[in-house]
Amino acid sequence: MRIRIADIATYDGQQITIQGWLHNRRSSGKIHFLIVRDGTGFVQTVMSKAAVGDEAFTQADHLSQETSLSVTGTVRADARARGGYEIDVTQVEVHGAAHDYPITPKEHGVDYLLDRRHLWIRAERQTAILRIRHEVIDAVRDFLNSRDFILCDTPIFTPAACEGTTTLFPVQYFDDTTAFLTQSGQLYNEANAMALGKVYCFGPTFRAEKSKTRRHLTEFWMVEPEMAYADLNDVIELAEGLIVSVVSRVLDRRRQELEVLERDVSKLESIQAPFPRLTYDRAAQLLKDHGQPFAYGTDFGGTDETVLSEQFDRPVCVTHYPSRIKAFYMQPDPQQSDKALCVDMLAPEGYGEIIGGGQRLDDLDLLRERIEAHGLPQEAFDWYLDLRRYGTVPHGGFGMGIERCVAWICKLEHVRETIPYPRMLHRLYP
Ligand code: 4AD
Ligand code: MG
Repeated sequence: MRIRIADIATYDGQQITIQGWLHNRRSSGKIHFLIVRDGTGFVQTVMSKAAVGDEAFTQADHLSQETSLSVTGTVRADARARGGYEIDVTQVEVHGAAHDYPITPKEHGVDYLLDRRHLWIRAERQTAILRIRHEVIDAVRDFLNSRDFILCDTPIFTPAACEGTTTLFPVQYFDDTTAFLTQSGQLYNEANAMALGKVYCFGPTFRAEKSKTRRHLTEFWMVEPEMAYADLNDVIELAEGLIVSVVSRVLDRRRQELEVLERDVSKLESIQAPFPRLTYDRAAQLLKDHGQPFAYGTDFGGTDETVLSEQFDRPVCVTHYPSRIKAFYMQPDPQQSDKALCVDMLAPEGYGEIIGGGQRLDDLDLLRERIEAHGLPQEAFDWYLDLRRYGTVPHGGFGMGIERCVAWICKLEHVRETIPYPRMLHRLYP
């Protein structure tokens, strides 16, 4: 019977077959210990000369790392074994040899590993991260679906910028047109919300980020909910609920992976609503109090965000940034017209911004002014202005970057390990 290693506990005492790859092997005299992985887990299989005979035993002397093989044997509970079970081998069938697998148990540099990302993803740490990524994405979908948000996809080829013109990726679109890869589905999402009420889009987004930081990719996945008849407070509450739900889901279902990553889970267990809220002004004061050289009126840099987020044991929502440093579509605060009704959520432990969003400008004339002030082409946004011409309402939403969120939950140095094939300034291969 073919089984998955993840299900091994239900087969104690039974004869089974697992299909996988050899992770590691050690031998002591008349016994080979073959550690096999199958994508669902790892198990130690025990091959004794007495059980398999001389010939098979000698052949197993040459099995090398990442050889693909099927192992048949009997499952045996063993409290000392990793996962609580071992397999006493009766037969090994080799499918494909692996000569000189380039990633060995010794340390390799990160560039070496990134050049071999298609193989590196087989590593235990990497599979743990990718499973957590899967769980985060699944949790996001469940959260929004259970709150009656409608998934409504937005285009990847777009005619204009959403998040500033400096990070656009141009693409030749047939003979005489330049299209741009989407930076965010937000503008289309706003139209979709006017049709369906509560919507979200969830797809790859692109930014020609020339900076080499541990938080930036040029291709990343973003989930963006958008709601009609919503204000800044509704947006913050939704963002808070989403993060609490995602973190508790990972704690619930991915303990083992968090353990592989040696994640301090107590830090994740304290992620409970409500999250602290700070205005931009208070955040600027806090930075000053901590001796950070910060120029009031500018955007927070990576280090500023790190310092701010380290002050709290849960994500902090920073609101009311100066409109000048934010995107053209932000609704001004009626109490202080130079500030925007926006929110950035900064993750704890120095992870910085994981969510950005807010209330959208719903007045036609003001929006037109802003588009002009930002030097954006009016024609490209005419359809977007229609949303203010035909039944405008207060509305808002946000975008959460999946990779930033996973990097924080896994406590990784860099977002590059949170996506199967990272795309960065100097990285397009493999
Ligand atoms: O703050 P951003 O730029 O907001 C928007 O794009 C809005 N239009 C979203 C909306 O309101 N619907 O990006 C949102 C999030 C950030 O908080 C961050 O998590 C992630 O997207 N992000 C990146 N992640 C990885 N690499 C990059 N270069 C990223 N840029 C943004
Ligand atoms: Mg932002």
